[in-house]
This record gives sequence, C-alpha cells and structure tokens, in this order.
Amino acid sequence: MTEPLSNGAVYQSVPESYVLPEHQRPRSSPPSSAAAIPVVDLGGDDPDRTAEQIVAAGKEFGFFQVINHGVAEDVMASMMSAAEEFFRLPTDEKMVHYSTDSTKLPRFHTSVGKEQEKVLYWRDCLKIGCYPFEEFRHRWPEKPAGLGAALEAYTAAVRSVALRVLRLAASGLGLEDEAHFEGGELTAGPVVMNVNHYVACPDPSLTLGIAPHCDPNVVTVLMDNGVRGLQARRRRGEGEGGGWVDVDPPPGALVVNFGHQMEAVTNGRVRAGEHRAVTSARAARTSLAAFVMPAMGYVVSPAPGVVAEGEALLFRSYTYQEFVSVYTAATGNRDAVLARFRNNNG
Ligand code: OGA
Ligand code: NI
Repeated sequence: MTEPLSNGAVYQSVPESYVLPEHQRPRSSPPSSAAAIPVVDLGGDDPDRTAEQIVAAGKEFGFFQVINHGVAEDVMASMMSAAEEFFRLPTDEKMVHYSTDSTKLPRFHTSVGKEQEKVLYWRDCLKIGCYPFEEFRHRWPEKPAGLGAALEAYTAAVRSVALRVLRLAASGLGLEDEAHFEGGELTAGPVVMNVNHYVACPDPSLTLGIAPHCDPNVVTVLMDNGVRGLQARRRRGEGEGGGWVDVDPPPGALVVNFGHQMEAVTNGRVRAGEHRAVTSARAARTSLAAFVMPAMGYVVSPAPGVVAEGEALLFRSYTYQEFVSVYTAATGNRDAVLARFRNNNG
C-alpha cells in the first residue's frame, strides 16, 4: 500500500520516492513555442465551421477547449466542490475505497496505482464508474454527501457534450453517417471518471502528476479547479517530438481530448491528444476527466467512408478489451501501446 499524498501532510521537500530521474522531469522535454490550444464555440450558429474547427484541432493537438457547451455553471461548480471535498475527508474514509486492482470501481489510489512502482507520481485519484447510472449508482462513495447527485447531473451533461463533439467530428470528416461515432457501438460503453487531486508540491521541477499518455478511450471531457497543470503535446509529423503547451481553460470552459480509439476509427485523420500533468507549488489542483468509451467487445476499425481507396490502414483491427489490456500493461506509454496495434505498411 502506498500512502496517499492527501493525508494532511504539508510537504517541505519532495520525498525521494517522488523524484523522477532527470530524463523524465518536466523540463527534460521542450515547451512548444507555438500556439495555444484552440477554443471552439459550441454555441455558434455555423455548425459546419464548428465541425471544421474540431477536426483542425483534432489534427494538430487532439485537444481543444469548448465554450458555450450548455453545461450549467452550478452543475460544474457542485461537481467540483464535491470532488474537492472528497480529498479533504480523513484519510481512513478515503482508504475505504483504496485498491491496486485497476478494474475495481470505484477505486481510490495514488500515483499510477500499481502494486510496485519504482518512482511515484504526484497524484491521488478516485476513479468512479458513472454511467449507466443504474449500473453504478449503488456503488458511489457515500461521502461526501451530495457527491452522487452532483455526479449524476455532471456526467449526464458532459456525456452529451462528448456526443455532440463526436457528431460534429463525423460531419467535419465528411462521413456519410454523421451519427456513426456518436450513436453507435463506439460510445456504448460506460462513462468512467478520474477525479484527480494533486496536492501542492514543494518542487514541481522534480515531479509529474501524470506521465505523458493518450487516453485509451474515444473522447474525454475534462474540467479543473483553475490551478494550472495539464499540458498537451503538439505534434507535427510522425517522429517529430513537438512541444508541451499549457492547457489553461478560460473560466467555465471544458477541455476535450480525443483518445486512442478516435485516432484508430479515423485512420489518423484526427489524433489522440497526448498529455501530462505537471504539479503546482502554489495550490492543490483537482481535475475531473470523464471518459466516454466503447463496450469492451467492440471491434475497433476505421469508420465507413473514412479511408480513401488504396489508403493504407494504420492499425489492425482489435477489440477494445484487448486494447485496454495492452494499455494497462504498458502504463499508457503511447509508443509501446501503438507498437502492438500498428500495421507494418512499410
Ligand atoms: C487523466 C488525465 C489530466 C489532468 O486523468 O487521464 O490525463 O489534468 N488527467 O488531471
Ligand atoms: Ni489522461
């Protein structure tokens, strides 16, 4: 068992077990001198233009921020307060949910949450199965009071944002069936949420909250408490490193990123947004990442109409279950994961 960071301790220095080897520290890979993460107005009156913007952001970053998304301010605020309140609970009340079994829901863990970790990441996390509500509701943590109600309202709202984004993406990619991503098997799995908490860190240059990764699912909707920490990697072409860009959402905005499955079903037209979380010396950061995913048995392959005649397929087809197993074993490392699914087209 690894002691969670949110145990009331005030850290004067970074405990040795959290100090990353030099080549993994945040400053060992360059910041991007270019561009900020695009902001997409979902309330605009030109859906074709919105769709274009989503596809363009999907190509460059796999990341964008949405405004006028229709999620009520109080729904966002209640969810965030319940989340922050959870991490203020006495340690033993959080530990009721502690597990190193990555399939357990809900599950409280720290760092990556594996049994044996060489170096620890500066993060505590409560992972909750959210949707379908009938399946998960009876397992939601009882404390803090109000978490369940907040979760239900928030999950329903951000799930519909995710589905709207997928419809727009299908339209922006010129799919004949605009509901192909949104309505079908691709989003028929559960919605699971990482409630991440990064306590203030005395020396952010030595630590990371989360190592670079792409999310394994289809699309993720994220909000945070306004403390900066999320960074997205800008990629230009295969093999080019690109640089890290701060994702610093304007108040009220939500952050959207595509996961590995969007890259696969679009045959790379949009990419999975690679990201990491740096720590903050200033304040504790809380973030909520809601993952929309396929059912485990879904066979992932390019959407009809995406692939041009004669175009090489980037990935072999596979079940989402297989993907998740490989991903978990590789702890999310993008190159290690994709090496197992790429076609060798030469
Ligand atoms: C995640 C994640 C980033 C953040 O939970 O998968 O990448 O900003 N979170 O906390
Ligand atoms: Ni992530």
